[in-house]
This record gives sequence, C-alpha cells and structure tokens, in this order.
Amino acid sequence: MTPEPPGASGPSGRLLPPGPAEVARISIGGPETLDLEAIAPVHAAAFAEPPYSEPDATDLLRGAPRHAQRDGFVLAIARDGESVVGFAYGVTAHPRLDWVAELVDVPGTVSELVELAVHPCAHGRGIGAGLLEAVLEDRPEPVTVLQTHDGDGPAMRLSLRMGFRRIGRTTVGVAMAKQLR
Ligand SMILES: CC(C)(COP(=O)(O)OP(=O)(O)OC[C@H]1O[C@@H](n2cnc3c(N)ncnc32)[C@H](O)[C@@H]1OP(=O)(O)O)[C@@H](O)C(=O)NCCC(=O)NCCS
Repeated sequence: MTPEPPGASGPSGRLLPPGPAEVARISIGGPETLDLEAIAPVHAAAFAEPPYSEPDATDLLRGAPRHAQRDGFVLAIARDGESVVGFAYGVTAHPRLDWVAELVDVPGTVSELVELAVHPCAHGRGIGAGLLEAVLEDRPEPVTVLQTHDGDGPAMRLSLRMGFRRIGRTTVGVAMAKQLR
C-alpha cells in the first residue's frame, strides 16, 4: 500500500494536520544511543531562551551519562534530515528521590522525564509533543513525573496539553505528574 502524503485525507475524508512524523523523524533507544555531541548543542540552544538564561552544559554532560546507567533509561531523538533538532529522555525514578517520595503516593516505582529540549529553530512544529509521546510510550510504570519552570511558558503549556497535572513545588519549580495507566 502506498503511504499517504502529509495532509492527505484520512479514513473519514477529513484533512489530517501534519504530525511530527512528517516534520521530523523521531527514534527511541536505550543507553547505547546516547550521543552527547549531538544533543548538547540542542540543549544549550533550547535553554538559552527565556525563561532560562544561563544554560548549564555540565548538567547535561555530567547528568546524562549517569542517567543512562539507571533502570528504564529511554532516549527519544528528533532528526530533521541529518540534524538532531530535539531530544527527551526518561528513567525509572529513584524511589527515595526526595520530591517524588514526598509528592507521589503510588505503590511501586514511577518514571521521571528528566530532559526535554527542542532547538529553537524547530519550535512550534509538534516536535516537543512527539518526543514526549515517544519517551512515554510503553513505560511500565503507572505514573510519570517531571519538574518544570513555573509560569505559562511553552514547557508548562506542553505538559498540561499532554495530560500532566501540577502536584506541588520543588526547588527547581513545579512538579507535575501524568497517569499512564
Ligand atoms: C518546551 C519545548 C520542548 C517545546 O518544544 P516544541 O517542539 O516547540 O513543542 P510543540 O511544537 O509540540 O509545541 C509548542 C507550540 O507549538 C504549537 N504547535 C505544535 N505543532 C504545531 C503546528 N503544526 N502548527 C502550529 N503550531 C503548532 C503547539 O500548540 C504549542 O503552542 P503553545 O506553546 O502556544 O502551547 C521547547 O520550547 C524547549 O525546548 N524549551 C526549552 C527547554 C524546556 O523548557 N524543556 C522542558 C523542561 S520540562
């Protein structure tokens, strides 16, 4: 069967909006797919924009290899042609992680979305939403959490649109959780 082109009519005859698959290719993988050289520039550019102003490269460069050793590490990467334009990764949250233990009351483990960044040149094309969806797909944990900047910014709007709800405050900003099943 020939695949339908972007924006083609769906089964109901409705014109389908272009989804992330048409604007960027999103792949998911485990620790072996972590390519710091490819994702660091995306992280730096994304966090150079307000409300963040001082991107801390060491956060990612030190944090990501450590996270990649953890259980449940899943990395989603968005590419536009050969260029990496966004990434997201999640892990199984450490059960004794202070803010999770304090704010989430579910039996067993939860997952945590640790990083999500899209290069500003690719914002507003649904790539952030596509990455979030990809990284949460097939997670075994019933609940996933993230921390984000307070205020009505793109990250907060995206989280709310993707079904996350505020559960409290942390030293970083706002803690949010989404029920996966
Ligand atoms: C948050 C972030 C990942 C969003 O990435 P993104 O790829 O721009 O996200 P999306 O394209 O899915 O959504 C962004 C906006 O574009 C809109 N949009 C999505 N697809 C669209 C399309 N095809 N046409 C027009 N608008 C579209 C969305 O509705 C959304 O609008 P809103 O901000 O008014 O709610 C990005 O802004 C970023 O990297 N920020 C800095 C780092 C950060 O905050 N990370 C998250 C920490 S939890």
